[in-house]
Amino acid sequence: MTEIIRINPTDPEINRVIRAAKVIREGGTVAFPTETVYGLGANGFDPAACRRIFEIKGRPADNPLILHILGPDWLDRVAGEVGGRAMEFAEKAWPGPITLVLKKNAKVPGVVTAGLDTVAIRCPAHRIALELIEYSGVPIAAPSANLSTKPSTTRFEHVVDDLDGKVDVIIDGGDATFGVESTIINMTVEPPVLLRPGAFTVEELEKHLGRIMVPEAVNRTATDGEVAIAPGMKYRHYAPDKMLVLANDSTILRGAAMMAADMDDPIAILCSSETANSLMKSIKLRNISVIILGSEGNLYEVARNLFDAFRALDETSAKMGIVQKFDDKGIGMAIMNRISKATGNSAIEKLGDLEGMLEAQ
Ligand code: TXA
Ligand code: MG
Repeated sequence: MTEIIRINPTDPEINRVIRAAKVIREGGTVAFPTETVYGLGANGFDPAACRRIFEIKGRPADNPLILHILGPDWLDRVAGEVGGRAMEFAEKAWPGPITLVLKKNAKVPGVVTAGLDTVAIRCPAHRIALELIEYSGVPIAAPSANLSTKPSTTRFEHVVDDLDGKVDVIIDGGDATFGVESTIINMTVEPPVLLRPGAFTVEELEKHLGRIMVPEAVNRTATDGEVAIAPGMKYRHYAPDKMLVLANDSTILRGAAMMAADMDDPIAILCSSETANSLMKSIKLRNISVIILGSEGNLYEVARNLFDAFRALDETSAKMGIVQKFDDKGIGMAIMNRISKATGNSAIEKLGDLEGMLEAQ
């Protein structure tokens, strides 16, 4: 049985937070909102509770978890060597959507770090998450609160769809602010290495840290035999059940929409409001489901709607989805990263490819 606890995200009811915190302290699992996506939390010092997280999600055991802490003061509870630079950065950037990879200390169980000698740590900028950590009194280990391979959950309803009946508590705390996960940076090396682009932009990182390394492979799913830059990056991620492909440019998107409008096989188009408006002027979009991601002028809006759109694609009668390309500056880098993962790097380069793709569905 899953208990639903509704909590006001801007002014949390403390008695309700305490109820959820008790479940964490007693070794249970609690799905809770953060500013990025919902997390599936358990006591980070309790190996059995952390193992439950892997079972519930169907997550491979070699994909480590992030520990959520109350602030830089808590770093020495979980990290071995912190170092002045990491401490200074944490003090400036937290609470916020940035995860630091540091050397772990002996108290962090191997199940959390998948046997690595490093640990991923972050302090979320969300009232409910922070109070849950505070009243639990322990670091909370939490991956995103979705079934493994599915898009991360950005709304309470998504969490219910994936985890109802599987976790002890789901907190209903409204929608996530960013809608893409935290940025992950490895601080154990110099220069620091970006492991996952996310809600904290590379431009902001460079402002704080100077030069950082952005591996070319950060935006690809590692292929067989290739060593992934972070353990989780070799797995299929964030993917709708239906096939999703990227339209390499707007001409291809328009051509695909025109073609699809004349076919029985419906296609869904995931695009900006600007693109939808312009398509609508010339094409009868009757046969096409259009899922609007937001305005190109506000990529934070696109990020916030992205995983919801991936889930919405599966609800349409379309056989497959085609998604528009976005500018990869700022938060756009995280958007394009999640799109590449969801499409398995597949893009339509010429219209002729589309017919074959549709027939294969
Ligand atoms: O925004 C977020 O980060 C959300 C919320 C809930 O905080 N959490 C999240 O967790 O996205 P998850 O498990 O979906 O992604 C964690 C990523 C995985 O790709 C994992 O491989 C990487 O962090 N990771 C964890 N520990 C690591 C380590 N020691 N070294 C390198 N990568 C690590
Ligand atoms: Mg995840």
